[in-house]
Amino acid sequence: RPDPFTLVIFGAAGDLAHRKLFPALYNLMVDGWLPPDFRIVGIARRAYNNAEFRQEVATSVQSFSRRPPDLAVLNRLTGGLSYITADFKDPAAYEALKTLLTDPEGGFPPNYLFYLATPPQAYRVIAAAIGEAGLNRSPDPHGWVRIIVEKPFGHDLESALSLNHDLHQVFEEPQIYRIDHYLGKETVQNILVFRFANGIFEPLWNRQYIDHVQITVAESLGVEGRGSYYDQAGALRDMVQNHMLQLLSLIAMEPPVAFEADAVRDEKVKVLRSIRPFSTRDITQFTVRAQYETGSIDGEVVPGYLDEPDIASDSRTETYVALRLLIDNWRWAGVPFYLRTGKRLAKRATEIAIQFKRAPRQFFRQTETSELEPNQLTIKIQPDEGISLRFGAKVPGPAIRVRTVNMEFLYGTSFAGSPPEAYERLLLDAMVGDSTLFTRKDEVEEAWTLVTSILHGWERARGPLATYESGSWGPREADELIARDGFQWRRP
Ligand code: BG6
Repeated sequence: RPDPFTLVIFGAAGDLAHRKLFPALYNLMVDGWLPPDFRIVGIARRAYNNAEFRQEVATSVQSFSRRPPDLAVLNRLTGGLSYITADFKDPAAYEALKTLLTDPEGGFPPNYLFYLATPPQAYRVIAAAIGEAGLNRSPDPHGWVRIIVEKPFGHDLESALSLNHDLHQVFEEPQIYRIDHYLGKETVQNILVFRFANGIFEPLWNRQYIDHVQITVAESLGVEGRGSYYDQAGALRDMVQNHMLQLLSLIAMEPPVAFEADAVRDEKVKVLRSIRPFSTRDITQFTVRAQYETGSIDGEVVPGYLDEPDIASDSRTETYVALRLLIDNWRWAGVPFYLRTGKRLAKRATEIAIQFKRAPRQFFRQTETSELEPNQLTIKIQPDEGISLRFGAKVPGPAIRVRTVNMEFLYGTSFAGSPPEAYERLLLDAMVGDSTLFTRKDEVEEAWTLVTSILHGWERARGPLATYESGSWGPREADELIARDGFQWRRP
């Protein structure tokens, strides 16, 4: 359990706080993870008094908690809330915060966890102002101060470097917790357990046995009222730079020397550094970007991207990306990794498929084996969380006929209860000072180095932007990308 601490949420009236943070705090409290001496201060521009803010938090828990709220716990959570109405740019806000936190009568524990749940333009302003107010050090010599920074962390390599630089003017790296909520997902953490707690998979986990890897993050939702953000970002920045490269790092990393923050992140960053840079020719050959057009999803007709609110009518922002990456190291030389992500695809499915090489000799070729497919291990991150292994089995009967079957592990049947949400796990880790599941400075910079090179390549190439119908599995060009290597995308 964490030490007593004070959580200060900048952007406490916003959507993230409302949908994710308050419900997560509530569930952590239900599970007994919060210390009895724990306080929350919300700061935002919207004018609330303490009572209104408490009511807001209660509503958010009622609407978004994975468990129906227990009133006694909810009252305990909201009882410790305070709110400051302020503009993040106004130095007076930080003086007010300091006065509140250091009031001897106030009872705010002098361990501070700052959460930046604001638009990204505010990150550096807030960090600098925290520093100026001297709140980046605890008034208690044994106390601690940490800061959680939400995504997006930068817009390209240059802005990420500059944001890191500015944060480092005020905080030491171990104080900074950069969120990637994918790392808080149970199924994502299970990648490490699956690989390194079991003896049988790791010996096969290399170029000798693995043919190729496919990572898919498919969404059926569109831009969902976030048009003005999304049109500036696009799928490469929104999903690949963070979530997908994190999945790739976990799948491809070497075993760490210990299960400890820097040891794990050292190995992840080595993967990112080993990804072969894209040459100008590679950009046209091994990347596809596309935009959704109208189509139908679950029987409902949905508008095309250009007709969504807050999207420029001539926008060239991609809502779909497919990439082929190569990892130039001893384990993976020659094994292609295919990544694809898109909005308005046929269904929501995040999964990693590891395709193994075929058996070196096929004894059963003369019989009906044409449907026998290579072994494939699929790690299903969401929504049907589980792991599935595809192999050939003999069809019962006098002749030898082989058919592909699946061996399935499903979280829902093996484990009871609703798993904690990503934000519960990540908040708790930041409270106890464990940064294993947060992105380190060099990781974020390596990921941006790769992504920025693709962005520049796209700018230079000015090639056509492909399109795809909403409700489909993406553009034809992505099928061609993988077909050139003799493979095809999995249908989740
Ligand atoms: C966010 C992106 O980081 O992740 C969204 O900004 C995306 O565009 C979301 O929809 C996907 O997260 P999840 O947990 O629903 O897979």
